[in-house]
Amino acid sequence: MSYKAGPHFLQIPGPSNIPGRVLRAIERPTMDHRGPSFQDLAVEVLEKIKPIFKTSQPVVIFPSSGTGAWEAALVNTLSPGDKVLMYETGQFSNLWIELASRLGLKPEICQGDWRGGAIAEVIEERLLADTTKQIKAVCIVHNETSTGALSNVKAVRDAIDNAKHPALLLVDTISGLGSRA
Ligand SMILES: Cc1ncc(COP(=O)(O)O)c(C=O)c1O
Repeated sequence: MSYKAGPHFLQIPGPSNIPGRVLRAIERPTMDHRGPSFQDLAVEVLEKIKPIFKTSQPVVIFPSSGTGAWEAALVNTLSPGDKVLMYETGQFSNLWIELASRLGLKPEICQGDWRGGAIAEVIEERLLADTTKQIKAVCIVHNETSTGALSNVKAVRDAIDNAKHPALLLVDTISGLGSRA
């Protein structure tokens, strides 16, 4: 029988290994989530998390799986029948597209070859062609975990602004936040 020293080290792209100091923090006794200490902690966390998202705007924390966050983002901002421009970059973008269809949204797909991220110029072209502003949101995956393809979020934001289009930008940064530019 082989003997393995030390903690098990998970070697897959995700979920990532949790640093020891985070695991030790989780070990603390449960806090009353309606009590004043939790309120203080939440206010501090919500403030300090802003630089991670590179924003000065309020951040909402929604506890769920990644798939749950996809669904929450779509159902809380859009209505069935709405057109969404979704960029294919790999397996996860395609699962998000499928979810959007099942929720009754109408995805317009920017097809990709899974070898690169969303191309901002393609998005700008599609938005400029949408003269009646039917597209209500643009969806991109920041770091497409299945392929490692990176989408330039700022370039996509700029493309939407250049096209003077009111579509909302929804970004899946599940494996990109804090780790990729
Ligand atoms: C980029 C990306 N989006 C969405 C998901 C789906 O997340 P979950 O498996 O937690 O539902 C994953 C999971 O690895 C992911 O890497």
